[in-house]
Amino acid sequence: MTPSPDRKRLHVITWGCQMNVYDSGRMADVLAPLGYAPAETADGADMVILNTCHIRDKAAEKVFSELGRLRRLKEATGNRMILAVAGCVAQAEGAEILARAPYVDIVLGPQTYHRLPEMVARASRAGASRAGASRAGGVVIETDFPVEDKFDHLPDSARPQGVTAFLTIQEGCDKFCSFCVVPYTRGAEQSRPAAAILREARHLVAQGAREITLLGQNVNAWHGEAPDGSSWGLGRLLRELADIPDLPRLRYATSHPRDMDDDLIAAHRDVPALMPFLHLPVQSGSDRILEAMNRKHSAADYRRIVDRLRDARPDLALSSDFIVGHPGETEADFEATMTLVRQVDFALAYSFKYSPRPGTPAAGAPLQVREADKDRRLQALQALLREQQARFAQACVGLTLPVLFTGPGRHSGQIVGRSPFLHPVHLSGHADLIGNESMVRIVTAHPNSLAGTLVQERLIA
Ligand code: SAH
Ligand code: SF4
Ligand code: F3S
Repeated sequence: MTPSPDRKRLHVITWGCQMNVYDSGRMADVLAPLGYAPAETADGADMVILNTCHIRDKAAEKVFSELGRLRRLKEATGNRMILAVAGCVAQAEGAEILARAPYVDIVLGPQTYHRLPEMVARASRAGASRAGASRAGGVVIETDFPVEDKFDHLPDSARPQGVTAFLTIQEGCDKFCSFCVVPYTRGAEQSRPAAAILREARHLVAQGAREITLLGQNVNAWHGEAPDGSSWGLGRLLRELADIPDLPRLRYATSHPRDMDDDLIAAHRDVPALMPFLHLPVQSGSDRILEAMNRKHSAADYRRIVDRLRDARPDLALSSDFIVGHPGETEADFEATMTLVRQVDFALAYSFKYSPRPGTPAAGAPLQVREADKDRRLQALQALLREQQARFAQACVGLTLPVLFTGPGRHSGQIVGRSPFLHPVHLSGHADLIGNESMVRIVTAHPNSLAGTLVQERLIA
């Protein structure tokens, strides 16, 4: 019999997108057999993983400042703490991390975390053999894109799942938008086989998940091997997932307008489990800027896709990402974005000032937009988007919506749920409703949430 490994404390700090949230969970899964159990804080932890994001502004500086803080906590453990930097900054700037933060033990990219047990073993050996404070040569770095598929090496998660869970089905990006680091940090587009996804989804449901969000940098580019050897698109995969018992809700993010095919649009009509909320980033409403961004679609194409989606699912709420101040953007281009926003009417949206990213084509482009212009445009756009978001939430007041209860509320006797449109919904109710979906009459709309009253208990289970 093998002795059970010593219990160790693992703290994971997650920045960035939903895929990083998923990856952080999977890193914990990989380390669980070594005896690592989740810890709430980095203080006194045996291992800390900083899972980083490189998408915008000063990403690396933020990492170094956090590492400075973690260094002090590491020293307080007599340097027992293993410090790992993961994610997209690790991938893009691994060498700089090694140079500037030699107290870091492990630097690993998003495609190698299945090898963490081996990295931890190497880092521990290096730590043990290091004399005194010298750290040189002790660092483990894994930022290649290995030929083996990390998903083949990940264990089933033993973590209890929340009511809502993420499931990565596709990773990487081949689109090379002018402004974006993702194709460099996450590598080429890769789709997981359908059988592996269906298996993981069933496992998540067995662990308590009732809503699964399928993730990918371009999740609707997913083209996975089907169990019979043919190839499925996302529409077909959603239909199969919808057949899993006790899984009443499905979502997917983030999608690209170019990959919105007929079958996926039809799935919005045919699959009731597919929630009527879609994050479909457009970035800009100006054809000139869309071309400069290498998005390979026009504003009219986007509007057409939205019309078709709304024909298929009339209650569909839309969300998007926008960038203001991409190189070459004029006032007229910005106005075209405002026009598109008015035409489409978004329930939710994220908007950013263009931020030059090292190594991307737009970073070196002429006609960079002045910071003051970016600020002004962002403020105007966000004011319009906030107004649309508030109007959409207000329109929910008086409706009776299915709400999936996800956890306890802030006060006793309260619970929180999620509307079909992703709003948090607060109401009075018993904690034993968590994990169930019930009809709730929406009474009040707040800027980022709704409040309601229970009208019918338990639609499921
Ligand atoms: N794959 C998704 C987006 C992934 S990145 C898509 O194609 O839409 C998430 C969002 O960050 C992007 O939609 C974009 O709005 C924003 N973003 C990416 N790079 C940026 C940059 N250099 N400056 C500002 N915003 C950026
Ligand atoms: Fe980045 Fe464009 Fe790929 Fe989205 S589609 S991840 S914005 S390169
Ligand atoms: Fe950030 Fe990497 Fe996600 S750059 S947005 S963590 S894919």
